[in-house]
Amino acid sequence: MNKYLLTAMLLTVTLLTIMQPAAAADITIKVTKRYLNLPVSHKQERKAMTYTIGGKEAQRFVIRLSAEPEYWVFSDLSAYKGKTIKISYEGDAAGLGKVYQDDKINGQDSLYHEQKRPQYHFSTRRGWINDPNGLVFYEGEYHLFYQHNPFERDWENMSWGHAVSKDLIHWEELPVALHPDKIGTMFSGSAVIDYDNTSGFGKPGKPAMVAAYTADNPDRQVQCIAYSLDKGRTWTKYNDGKPVIDSKEKWNSKDTRDPRVFWYKPGKHWVMALNERDGHSIYISDNLKDWKFESHTTGFWECPDLFELPVDGDQNNKKWVMYGASNTYMIGSFDGKAFKPEGGKYYFSSGSIYAAQTYNNIPEADGRRIQIGWGRIPQQGMPFNNMMLLPTELTLRKTKDGIRLFSVPVKEAEQLFSPVQKWTNLSSSEANQKLKEFYKADKLRIKTTIKLSHATDAGFNLFAQRMIGYDMNFNQLNGMFYSPQDPTSMELTADIFIDRSSIEVFIDGGTYSYSMERRPDPGNTEGFHFWGNNIEVKNLEVFSAKSIWR
Ligand code: FRU
Repeated sequence: MNKYLLTAMLLTVTLLTIMQPAAAADITIKVTKRYLNLPVSHKQERKAMTYTIGGKEAQRFVIRLSAEPEYWVFSDLSAYKGKTIKISYEGDAAGLGKVYQDDKINGQDSLYHEQKRPQYHFSTRRGWINDPNGLVFYEGEYHLFYQHNPFERDWENMSWGHAVSKDLIHWEELPVALHPDKIGTMFSGSAVIDYDNTSGFGKPGKPAMVAAYTADNPDRQVQCIAYSLDKGRTWTKYNDGKPVIDSKEKWNSKDTRDPRVFWYKPGKHWVMALNERDGHSIYISDNLKDWKFESHTTGFWECPDLFELPVDGDQNNKKWVMYGASNTYMIGSFDGKAFKPEGGKYYFSSGSIYAAQTYNNIPEADGRRIQIGWGRIPQQGMPFNNMMLLPTELTLRKTKDGIRLFSVPVKEAEQLFSPVQKWTNLSSSEANQKLKEFYKADKLRIKTTIKLSHATDAGFNLFAQRMIGYDMNFNQLNGMFYSPQDPTSMELTADIFIDRSSIEVFIDGGTYSYSMERRPDPGNTEGFHFWGNNIEVKNLEVFSAKSIWR
């Protein structure tokens, strides 16, 4: 053989060998414990990991596996107990050697006591969370499903995480409810209880919990449904996860997502509000499987919600509210098929809140409209990220500007707080003095009313961070337009919820609220600090806060 050809061939073989990705390595284990603990490092790239059981792919996701972990994540293997599972990894195989099963997650001993762990807000044990999904009440349990990446503190592998609570305050995290499948990853959606068994998924005396979700893949976003007969613990995807709505061509857009389903009693049919391209569409169905397009309201993006509320509690005067991911809303009427706005687009909450959703199937005797919003609160340096904001009750009230949405934390939150001190009619320096002993609290609630007289702006800081920054001249509150009910009023009332990594503020009885990451200025020594020329602190109350984690 020509020696040049031989050299060229050898070189090709060598190059091919060098360019080959490390051959997929695998380990095989018999599942005897509850958790598979997985070491990760952000110095590694994301590579695919596959669980194969009996020759069939059971789960596939991407993970930054590493033999030198920055933190550990886990897979709940309860569903595979007793089975033999092959774990294959397409990336650096070194990390595979460290993977182990145990009945405890790695880090269990410090769980919920980590430095930044929210103490009275829901956060996930490990990984990333975003939108609340499938909020539904059933047999004494409030379900909170949520957008979740179990394998990293950043967004990926969208799955439906799951937690339950008996009081909206204390949560128990359960195994992941919906895993990505061949159709796509599990994007946001909602859940209902099919009491009349319209879907046929139920069994006698056992109505199905039905989830509507978006499956996302590089080409399209389609709507699918799944059902559970064991209170949301395990799920079956209808028609193997194939879509019940695929509307990309109709809208000439990939953005068709986040089905929000509820039972429309007067018409005895299901309604789905679905974000499609530039607004929220309404679809209706008799059985949760076959959906018919009815109407479209432009002006919204992502995560629709639609519900009816009495105005000032008057059951004879009800209005419908439609909102999108940013919590901006319209008020109007709804006949089961189309929403007709009757005014402008407003906001009642801002800051870290996003993609909030309200509960389905709250018992009629209760009748509240309860919302949970995603708190985009980075948990710096923690093996988990983001959190849910406090559940709130939404109401419609007549105001000087017309009918508006109000929100306050649900009454169940009161159990968390105990009064410690209360003062009235203080100057700002007196108030600052009184609050000195509370500087170090990792969690606290403060109610206050301030009155301006010589100041055009005034506020209340915590280590230089503006919890309240009210500009009476420009009518701005922490950067957003705010005008009190009595426009001549010089007073502002705030109910402030401070947790380790977050601050939530409810203004003037829930007229407006906002939330933020808690970010003390490390160079500041002031602690709590009222400011503004000659302001009066008319009322100041301090409450201690309990942790929800035992
Ligand atoms: C909103 C959102 C949804 C989508 C989900 C994906 O935060 O973009 O529209 O379903 O997040 O995680």
